[in-house]
Amino acid sequence: MILLGIETSCDETSAALVTDAGAPGLRILSNVVLSQVEAHRPYEGVVPEIAARAHLSHTDRVIGRAMAEAEADFEKLDGIAVAGGPGLIGGVIVGVMSAKAIAAVHQLPFMAVNHLEAHALTVRLTEGLQFPYLLLLVSGGHCQLLSVEGVGAYRRLGTTLDDALGEAFDKTAKMLGLGFPGGPEVETRARAGDGNRFELPRPMLGRSGCDFSFSGLKTAIRRRIEKLGGEETMTGTDIDDLCACFQAAVGDVLNDRAGRALDMFAARIGPPTALVVAGGVAANQYLRGRLAQLAAARELKLAAPPPALCTDNGAMIAWAGLERLKLGLTDGLDFAPRPRWPLDPDAAPAIGAGVKA
Ligand code: KG4
Ligand code: ZN
Repeated sequence: MILLGIETSCDETSAALVTDAGAPGLRILSNVVLSQVEAHRPYEGVVPEIAARAHLSHTDRVIGRAMAEAEADFEKLDGIAVAGGPGLIGGVIVGVMSAKAIAAVHQLPFMAVNHLEAHALTVRLTEGLQFPYLLLLVSGGHCQLLSVEGVGAYRRLGTTLDDALGEAFDKTAKMLGLGFPGGPEVETRARAGDGNRFELPRPMLGRSGCDFSFSGLKTAIRRRIEKLGGEETMTGTDIDDLCACFQAAVGDVLNDRAGRALDMFAARIGPPTALVVAGGVAANQYLRGRLAQLAAARELKLAAPPPALCTDNGAMIAWAGLERLKLGLTDGLDFAPRPRWPLDPDAAPAIGAGVKA
């Protein structure tokens, strides 16, 4: 099977073709990702109206390039998948309408995929991982621990009570004057820094359950910056050290929370096939290293998509669509784009939680 996938739910316009033929790792026929980062940079964050207009301007061309790079025409496709939410609704509408038009004209099965499900299933595209596994989903809008028990079978074990982890990275970067998007820059600066110089809190460490909270860490960093005399008097070394200390604190928190989630998983389901980390923050090599230590201590492997497939992309949407199509899980063309769409519908909303689910 060959599927086209379209992703427009945040600030990347992306289209990709994937196939289930061939070994994992050889299944992506094309994956065109057009980042809008330059358009949003002056505002130090994603501006929904700008994002929607940019998707409208570029989606057709990005789809055309993905088709051309894969040397495919629409007749060759077995279906079309699109991120139907959760996300910024203007962008989601652009992607969904484009996908519906192609599906209608070429009479193709249509799959409206949950963006989070696409992150969750990416390791099956890249390395054919079997169910069930524990997923740590860490992105700009989310920080969740989920059991992934099958396609469409997800149970949320823990979530953030305030900020998503990517948001915490981005806000930290902003306070340190590192620009937008902050995650990759914080990681680069942390490499040169001393992660033991400043004492920072580890919110939720040792608490029962496996929920997260990052707002206290953010406040602690702001206080540190103030103590160092603010942005004007901070040296490059101060910034490097603060980034390293922030990442070290995050690493401790993730390993504590994921460790507890592994215990919950084992008690309810049995042994997982792997500990999986996905979403934009999973591109962070330091955090991957820390999680690999946790996995090794539990005699598990850490599975993580390559960094380019951690951040938003069309290939993950196409793959999730393919998995759904194989199970006959298609959608009607009356599907309505969803700004909010929790992966586990039974999970109660967390207090004051994240922007997207
Ligand atoms: O999954 P994603 O591309 O979009 C959402 O669905 O949110 O995640 C974007 C987030 C941003 O907050 C970005 O700063 C963060 O992922 N990110 C990173 C790194 N690369 C991207 N955070 C930490 N380290 C990185 N290397
Ligand atoms: Zn994402």
